[in-house]
Amino acid sequence: MVADEHARLRRLIEVTTALSIERDLEVLLDRILACARELTGADAGTVYTREGDRLHPRVIHNDTLGLRLRAAQAEDRLGPVAVEPGNVSGYAALHGKTVHVADVYRSEEFDFQGPRRYDAQTGYRSRSMLVVPLTEPGGRVIGVLQLLNARQAETGQPGPFRDEDVELVEAFASGAAAALRNARLVEDLRATLEGLVRALGVAIDAKSRYTGSHVQRVAELNVGLAQAIHRCEKGALAGVRFGEEELEEIRLAGWLHDIGKVTTPVYVMDKANRLQGFFDRIEVIRERFRRVEAVLLERIRSGDDPEENARRLDAVREDWAFVEAANRPGPPMDRDRELRLKRIASEAYGVLGPEERLLTPEEVETLARSRGSLTPEEMEQMREHVVWTARMLRQIPFPPHLSRVPEIASAHHERLDGTGYPEGRTAEDLPMAARILAAVDVFEALTAADRPYKPPLPPERVVRILREDAARRKLDPDVVEVLLEWQGLAEEG
Ligand SMILES: [Fe+2]
Ligand SMILES: [Fe+2]
Repeated sequence: MVADEHARLRRLIEVTTALSIERDLEVLLDRILACARELTGADAGTVYTREGDRLHPRVIHNDTLGLRLRAAQAEDRLGPVAVEPGNVSGYAALHGKTVHVADVYRSEEFDFQGPRRYDAQTGYRSRSMLVVPLTEPGGRVIGVLQLLNARQAETGQPGPFRDEDVELVEAFASGAAAALRNARLVEDLRATLEGLVRALGVAIDAKSRYTGSHVQRVAELNVGLAQAIHRCEKGALAGVRFGEEELEEIRLAGWLHDIGKVTTPVYVMDKANRLQGFFDRIEVIRERFRRVEAVLLERIRSGDDPEENARRLDAVREDWAFVEAANRPGPPMDRDRELRLKRIASEAYGVLGPEERLLTPEEVETLARSRGSLTPEEMEQMREHVVWTARMLRQIPFPPHLSRVPEIASAHHERLDGTGYPEGRTAEDLPMAARILAAVDVFEALTAADRPYKPPLPPERVVRILREDAARRKLDPDVVEVLLEWQGLAEEG
């Protein structure tokens, strides 16, 4: 008997220690029930957690019925129980006391309509019940452990719980409650950090109307691309895998990558982004001019009024040169040049139909009103946002599994060939997570549909720009290909 006691105590210490390192709440609750059943030989059981004045079933086990339910499934099966003295679990929670009932069908102390109804539905026969409160070290009851039908060692038939088992499970319950409290604290802290990080990201997005919801989209795309790479079974990235914790690191790095923009003056941000949007657009305008040129050249070649069409071709080429010059940095346009721009915008060159024009009114407006590119100082201020991202994030004592967030977040403007900023790092110093973020940051800017003066580029343009960046060793070519594949764009361009 002494040897038996010894073995049981050792088992108790083992299972309680194992619980204390489990951080996943759902898994933890399942383990608590499994261990409690193992210690007492219970055929079935339920763990409830307390939320206010209700107990919610989180895990249900029943060996006879072959049941193992968790989370929503458990809640659906039994429904919540009120914390009140009339029902046995409510009583245990309210008074912090263990209740042992030898046969629930013969008890007059509590209302056992619930178990009887359950039995009627399932054909089960509830007999002995041991209800133990899960009490935090401070004395607060945070849940209830309910065990059903102790199997007797000799017969295997359900009978009452043994006194020594009751003591053992009470000791176990206090360890389980401490583990539950810790897991919840960790989860609460994680949720708080996540919430703070999102709040900061939203604030950056709100700072400039030219960046729309850039940060939010980058955060989503970042995790999505990492998961797409994780799923890769062929190609250069086939072996790359990301665990849950790495994905969390990647998500936070996405939310925080532009956090340093809190220090960037709004006018610099807006100016940079307006031009950024415009640089992309000039390519679209160039395509329109090229189309008109091609038609005129074809007419000249086929002898269709060659003189007139040659004159038009010269005009188109001169106009394009003017538009291109107008896009270059410089002071705002004078009246004459603005009029010429408007004239170009209304020109058909003998080619365009009544609805077609080479410049939209918004493009004319942007070209005419643009205050020129950033001064070198402003450019420096703009680029400094990543320096500030690094500085700010280094203030946060991230836990070990998130320790690379500052490094990943602040490397999103670095390029594989060393031409990026702020440090001019090269491929060897750029981890996969940083390469993913860099590609996503560019992709988001190209495809955004919520930027003033900047409609999203046609897919083939997006593909061409990203593949050019990959070919020039700016972005990681393998990452870019998975991104395009994942976005269904690999066949474009
Ligand atoms: Fe940035
Ligand atoms: Fe960004």
